[in-house]
Amino acid sequence: MMIKTIAWKNNTVVLLDQKALPLTERYITCRTYQEVISAIKDLTVRGAPAIGVAAAMGATLGACKHSSLPPEKFRHKFSAICAEIAQSRPTARNLFWALERMKKCLDDAISSSENASFLILSTCDRGGVGGGINIPHSNHLVKELISEAKRICAEDIEINRRMGKHGSSLLADGDNILTHCNAGALATAGYGTALGAIRAARAAGKKLHVYVDETRPVLQGARLTAWELQKEKIPATLITDNMAGFLMQQGKIDKIIVGADRIAANGDTANKIGTYALAVLAKAHGIPFYVAAPLSTIDTSLKTGAEIPIEERSSAEVTHFRGLQIAPAKIKVYNPAFDITPAKYITAIITEKGILQKPYLQSIRNASKEKSL
Ligand code: MRU
Repeated sequence: MMIKTIAWKNNTVVLLDQKALPLTERYITCRTYQEVISAIKDLTVRGAPAIGVAAAMGATLGACKHSSLPPEKFRHKFSAICAEIAQSRPTARNLFWALERMKKCLDDAISSSENASFLILSTCDRGGVGGGINIPHSNHLVKELISEAKRICAEDIEINRRMGKHGSSLLADGDNILTHCNAGALATAGYGTALGAIRAARAAGKKLHVYVDETRPVLQGARLTAWELQKEKIPATLITDNMAGFLMQQGKIDKIIVGADRIAANGDTANKIGTYALAVLAKAHGIPFYVAAPLSTIDTSLKTGAEIPIEERSSAEVTHFRGLQIAPAKIKVYNPAFDITPAKYITAIITEKGILQKPYLQSIRNASKEKSL
């Protein structure tokens, strides 16, 4: 069974509405890049790799509206659209990675069409308007961008499957695994990173049980991970975040696997708020703590986690639940959406290139040298 998170369909972006889950399974259609930006901001689509795919498709949507511009003006417009999308959320590396890849695709397409004199030929096909006058346009460039966005989406699923196989080798028959937030099919184009390892282990015949942290304040664990696991009939038990330490103390957790939003060059990892506390607890109880993430989540331009920008979200996420006020009005709120887990607490990082071990500076450098697919 394949959960479809995001798709490019007839020049629109179709998203599974993650705000409505688990009560309602519905898809929304974005027809403009501004609608995609709103969907990223309000968590209709969320999870680092899924945000990257949404950004690529959103930028392409924006580009579609400007295909009548000549290539240089089109490039300028596309760059401005990408810059706007880049403002949607600050932490997930994949957002910026995907936009950079789209811009490079456009640059390459413009250079190669110039080199092949393709431009001269393609300017003559405007239906005869202008009586033989060449009107430059960018239809061919839009086609390239659509193909690239679809490729990023398809590659993400393939990368997750590879990561899943590597991750599965770390899981033993009978393991009780704790996970935090949602790093599943919903957080990616499909299959998942942390949940991908669990899916792959199950497919290999291992019996596993998953403890799911509810993940306050937005409840990605309770709403999304629990839904995904149930849909796939993977045995799961939901706990509130403050129960995790007690379960570890009771010997109920064998391994912890989480995803990542951004990983610095030294392995320090930003992930959903609460991840750091789990990692410290895991260390105290001698429990392996794994991070599963594609290489596109690793930001080698940042030396340590201290440089990773941490998103702060609205106070209403803490004071309200689905419109219901649960805290006194005007109480001061601090709501960082992510925290940083220092590399020293991470047992290994699972990527599509294999399992990275400490020292991460070296293993990340080696893995990053290889092409992703
Ligand atoms: O705020 P969210 O729901 O986008 O946060 C998502 C996470 O923290 C995930 O763990 C992370 O993006 C990894 S997803 C494969």
